Amino acid sequence: MPLLDPGGGRNRPRAGAFIAHLRKHIERGIEHPQPILGAIIANGLGADGSGAGRCNVVCGHVLPMTHPEGVGKDECFSIDKECWSIDKHGHKPCNRENAMYPLSVDQPYPRNQWWVAAYASEVGRDLLARDILGEPVILYRSAAGEALALAGICPHRAFPLAKGCLVGDAVQCGYHGFQFGPDGACQNVPSQSGVPQNARLRRYPVAERGGLIWIWTGAAERADPANIPDVASIGLGRPDWAVEEHPIKTVDGRYTLLIENLLDLSHVTFIHDKTIPGGEKVAAIPVSVIETQTSLTVQRRGENLPLNPLIKMQFPEQTGPVHQHFDSEYLGPCMIRTGGAMYDAATGAELGIQNYIHIITPASPTRMHYMVMTARNFGIDQPHLGEIQIGMGSRIQPEDIDAIEAIERVLQSGATMPQEISARVDNGALKVRRRLEAQIRAEAA
Ligand code: FES
Ligand SMILES: [Fe+2]
Repeated sequence: MPLLDPGGGRNRPRAGAFIAHLRKHIERGIEHPQPILGAIIANGLGADGSGAGRCNVVCGHVLPMTHPEGVGKDECFSIDKECWSIDKHGHKPCNRENAMYPLSVDQPYPRNQWWVAAYASEVGRDLLARDILGEPVILYRSAAGEALALAGICPHRAFPLAKGCLVGDAVQCGYHGFQFGPDGACQNVPSQSGVPQNARLRRYPVAERGGLIWIWTGAAERADPANIPDVASIGLGRPDWAVEEHPIKTVDGRYTLLIENLLDLSHVTFIHDKTIPGGEKVAAIPVSVIETQTSLTVQRRGENLPLNPLIKMQFPEQTGPVHQHFDSEYLGPCMIRTGGAMYDAATGAELGIQNYIHIITPASPTRMHYMVMTARNFGIDQPHLGEIQIGMGSRIQPEDIDAIEAIERVLQSGATMPQEISARVDNGALKVRRRLEAQIRAEAA
């Protein structure tokens, strides 16, 4: 059943009208409800309507838009249901099995990427086990205090090294006592003199910044700490901001579901209707998307909002309405900042900035670690404001986690999925999908 040809050919649109239709979507930045067209739109058309689209929704295959007999022939737009590719021109069926919704690429996450392995406060002189991008990792500090990350499986007989212990700065396996130095090299086999050649653990590049232990999961020679998000700009690791660490959670859901959750804060009005003061206003506030090379921000600007109980506690002197920013700033797949500045609506004077920093690390293709840090540049000597944030987080975070785990169960159920529909508010999240897919494809290239 060709998707664009419900009338068996009679209703097939003329190519020119069809291209004009696609262009409207491009201009408005709205994805087309038919996935294949949305994919083509996302990648643009040539000036004359020709050119290649890339199937971002399903498989990433390039879809030629130019008919071999000339630009604009109707047949170019007849789409084969089975492969979601353009038929008649010999395109292979797409391999939908390997792509991980909502991405269209086979690899579920980028590896040439700094991720957060742990809060800095979690890593000390005991071995900490954490699954990162499907690999068991152990984290600890040397006697000098340097944070270290090594592969977590013993190459002797696959014993989990987290069940071992530290001997000085070396990791000793708990099974037969092989020891591995902080560089990962095996330095002692108790049952023999000398060590087997090539016996070593992978050592991950690590950086400590903003109270976080960052781990580079790609090729070690490509690790550049300059590519870690500028966490100081959002309040981390600074003496003039107050920061709280919320308990780390491991979520049975793919990390992309949390990214999409955080980029569409209209969910606040519904999922968090009882837990976020003033949240009932959020869904109705118009959004705009601001893009830079390193970030994408979905902005909401709340105007003349009545004081809610939280703002009253944060700014007891404030008596009138406020302007409040509800940002969602994507700083990479590892981190999203929500929240933002608040102003006195009468004078425009800034009251302060309250950021919610969401830290996302895939544990496996369908599980993730989720950390939240709250950071504010006001009332930094008032710990009760931090305690309020921790208390709110303990009620809000489970609501998001429940939603994400419910979606993950649906995705894994094998049920027939409805064709995805997006609203205008999803524009930012869809752009982030494209960014993430491009990042992953660039690694494979
Ligand atoms: S399994 Fe680790 S030393 Fe044998
Ligand atoms: Fe939420």
